Amino acid sequence: MKFLLIIACSVLFLAGAMAQNTSLKPVPEWMKTAYFYQIYPQSFKDTNGDGIGDLNGIIEKLDYIKWLGCNALWLNPCFESAFMDAGYDVIDYYKVAPRYGTNDDLKRLFKEAHKRGMRVCLDLVAGHTSDQHPWFKESQKKEKNEFTDRYIWTSDSTVKPEKYVSGTFGRNGAYRKNFFDCQPALNYGFAQPDPDHPWEQPVTAEGPRKTRAELMRIMDYWLSMGADGFRVDMAPSLIKNDPDKVETNKLWAEVRSHMQKKFPESVLIAEWGHPGRAVQAGFMMDFMIHLGPDAFSSMFFNEEGTYPRDSCYFRLDGKGTPTDFVSAYMNNLRDVDGKGYICVPTANHDFQRLACGSRNTPEQLKVALTFLMTLQSIPLVYYGDEIGLRFISGLPDKEGSLIKGKYNRAGTRTPMQWNTTKGAGFSDGDPASFYLPVDSSTFRPNVEAEMGDPSSVLNFTRKLIELRKQTDALGTNGKIEFLYAQKCAYPLVYKRTNGKETYVIVLNPSAQRYQVELNYPAVLRAVPVWVNQVAISPENGKLRIDANGVSYGIFKLLE
Ligand code: GLC
Ligand code: CA
Repeated sequence: MKFLLIIACSVLFLAGAMAQNTSLKPVPEWMKTAYFYQIYPQSFKDTNGDGIGDLNGIIEKLDYIKWLGCNALWLNPCFESAFMDAGYDVIDYYKVAPRYGTNDDLKRLFKEAHKRGMRVCLDLVAGHTSDQHPWFKESQKKEKNEFTDRYIWTSDSTVKPEKYVSGTFGRNGAYRKNFFDCQPALNYGFAQPDPDHPWEQPVTAEGPRKTRAELMRIMDYWLSMGADGFRVDMAPSLIKNDPDKVETNKLWAEVRSHMQKKFPESVLIAEWGHPGRAVQAGFMMDFMIHLGPDAFSSMFFNEEGTYPRDSCYFRLDGKGTPTDFVSAYMNNLRDVDGKGYICVPTANHDFQRLACGSRNTPEQLKVALTFLMTLQSIPLVYYGDEIGLRFISGLPDKEGSLIKGKYNRAGTRTPMQWNTTKGAGFSDGDPASFYLPVDSSTFRPNVEAEMGDPSSVLNFTRKLIELRKQTDALGTNGKIEFLYAQKCAYPLVYKRTNGKETYVIVLNPSAQRYQVELNYPAVLRAVPVWVNQVAISPENGKLRIDANGVSYGIFKLLE
């Protein structure tokens, strides 16, 4: 009897958990063939000579992005802000920051992108505002008002647990922050309010419910203007004290349902750093990046950068190991289970670019790009990585780029280099420049020069994207299987197949030549498709692979 009860309970529980997911509308079809391009608006393209990129600049460069092969944009926050964290401290969610243009400019960007078959996703800073936001100013008041409970305040300014900030406010209390002190957390409630902390409200309280409703109002506003979706900043952190993410998952399922009811083609992307979990919560895509398990960083973070490391796989010294990435990647693929996507970007605005430290030649970058463009996930090019723009160390703090006095993000946010001479305020060393990149290397990437050079990183990236688009097995449809991804071993070998066609990819980012033999029966021929310095010969049920230093190869297997 007891046994039956346990079974009945588990069935009910499972049904409950599944109902949440099965009630969701499908991920829009367009995501399957999405190629994202991330734009940091302040540094992309300036059109009025004030040294700051703007929306008109993005519109001007849509044809370039399309030429590159990307069909979906993600813009970092472009709303009215105090710019103490580069726009992640919003003052007005309904208004474009004047330095970027107007709401009408943004609308025009949506329209121009759509004309070209491209989508535009905005950055939704859902969890916190600027401390200059009028809501927060209201919330500080002694008199109870509409915004009193929209932020998280202790009941006494001397009660200040970790992550709470005190100051001189009308009300007696300290507020909870999310990131910098100037970013007070919006109140979405606590999954498990602590009885010893009487200020912690449940998610069903009035303040948290109103915060949630406002979030959806903001989304509706931009979607009805033509936005195609959102990348949600710090997505797992809205609801506090939610160790199993039960309430967090409910929140995102509700938000997604709401969003897709009116806008079924719109997309919800997480900054979670754990795609398996984000997709379970209702997100359609999430990134493998510097956050979460040590996977992306073990591949790319070398001795220089925002987060330097002693070793990584894509490094000439050949001392890295691919196993942490491979196991995290395969686990995430299993967990997203066809219900959403992983994105492994080239970089983003929070950590070093691909071109960093000793990874500083076009040939090394090409090995890394071949890897990123042949995974089963959705590709994302962080502006500038397509030309090999370098991470620059030692730049001064700019609008909150420096975290805790030591993690510097400025070096990954420098101006796009359109050419060497022109481009108001954006050329190297120009005092009007938003940043002052001092790039003393001889390899000075810029779009104009690289467009005219068939062997440039830019043309390489463009042709690689083109190859992936034309080869179903290399896209999100093809399954991935790692054939050689041993601890501390080179090269990295994996296969991509859609059941009809099979490709093998070989990557050797190290400076040394490696030869390996893999069991792989029934291969007649390995046809080179995209190869530099790698040879594969099938022999007696084996694949003999010979990879020179800094080499890559995509081969089609004929079985
Ligand atoms: C996210 C953003 C980062 C920002 C932080 C606080 O991690 O990507 O740039 O500083 O959230 O909003
Ligand atoms: Ca400008």
